[in-house]
Amino acid sequence: LIHPVILCGGSGTRLWPASRESFPKQFLPLAEPGRSSFQATAARLTDGATFARPAVVTANDARFLVAEQLAQGGIQADILLEPCRRDSAPAVAVAALHAAARDPQALVLIMPADHAVGDDAAFVRAARAARAGAMAGHIMTLGIAPTNPSTAYGYIQPGSPLPGETGAHAVARFLEKPDAARAASLIADGALWNGGYFLFRADVMLDELEAYAPAVLEAAREAVETATRDLDFVRLGEEAFGRAPQISIDYAVMERTRRAGVLPVDFPWSDIGTWGALWEVSARDGDGNALRGRVAVRDTRNSLVHSSGEILTTVVGLDDVVVVATDDAVLVTSRSAGAGVKDLVETLRRQG
Ligand code: GDD
Ligand code: MG
Repeated sequence: LIHPVILCGGSGTRLWPASRESFPKQFLPLAEPGRSSFQATAARLTDGATFARPAVVTANDARFLVAEQLAQGGIQADILLEPCRRDSAPAVAVAALHAAARDPQALVLIMPADHAVGDDAAFVRAARAARAGAMAGHIMTLGIAPTNPSTAYGYIQPGSPLPGETGAHAVARFLEKPDAARAASLIADGALWNGGYFLFRADVMLDELEAYAPAVLEAAREAVETATRDLDFVRLGEEAFGRAPQISIDYAVMERTRRAGVLPVDFPWSDIGTWGALWEVSARDGDGNALRGRVAVRDTRNSLVHSSGEILTTVVGLDDVVVVATDDAVLVTSRSAGAGVKDLVETLRRQG
């Protein structure tokens, strides 16, 4: 069985003002009505012939949101609580240690909580197909066919095929978030986007952390050893976890390990990083509009209009816009604006 671990620690500032520090995007019903991407992720893991009981690694502040959203879906999970934000490498280390405590060679599948996957069955097939590579000692990634030289993703250059008929390859090169020119030349050379999923044997990931990020591993190990348990919550040791360097698993391990593998996949995938990306994966009417909540439009095409509160939100005579209204903030932007929203939120935060 595969032990899935959902990473649920991002803050999703590019989807402000709907996504907030206290209520990040993965807990909002953004891509589908009535269900958050975290809930959709957990629901993707219910095939008991493939997956063991999942674990969730999240911020201590999000514990009630996580518990409540899991309960709504009727899903039971261990919920590992981080006392502070340290990016994904410490979370992956904790996930590997948690699984290794039961079985050192347990297969662990790291799952981002904030993605939209268009075909759950195809996702499960991909996870099963990547298993052979992971059991043989590779850290398997899922490779997505790139559509543009985005600077928001890791790029994976596939190398020689792995044994077996699975379609998986060794990774020749992993480059996290290259600049646009580099990204374009990588795509021309056949590179894939890193989907953000990692399937590995716990002992393999622990070896690679030991080799490339020993301070992360040391802090995570002591945080797990000093953890306290109450019901489904596992509170990681605060003092030890706080010592972990803040770094993502992509920089800490994936760019450096020689044991990476990649399985190219073709299911519909989006990391819903921006409002424009959310429009792409949303159901749209005949004019190409994705409309949510108390909204009305005229002479408007290919736009996303979202009201999550009481404010009746209207648009007339504009195309390709994003208008998002909440009870205390309104955003108007173009569908193609990406990082600008994140920059704005950071400026607002600095100004208090
Ligand atoms: N528990 C926990 N704690 N989870 C975290 C933390 C943390 O401190 N920081 C980030 N995460 C989770 C996020 O919630 C998300 O599910 C996942 O780790 C990836 O973090 P992101 O911050 O969203 O990373 P990214 O999107 O910039 O880049 C990653 O994903 C891309 C695909 O979406 C990389 O893996 C890229 O290589 C990849 O292409
Ligand atoms: Mg992301």
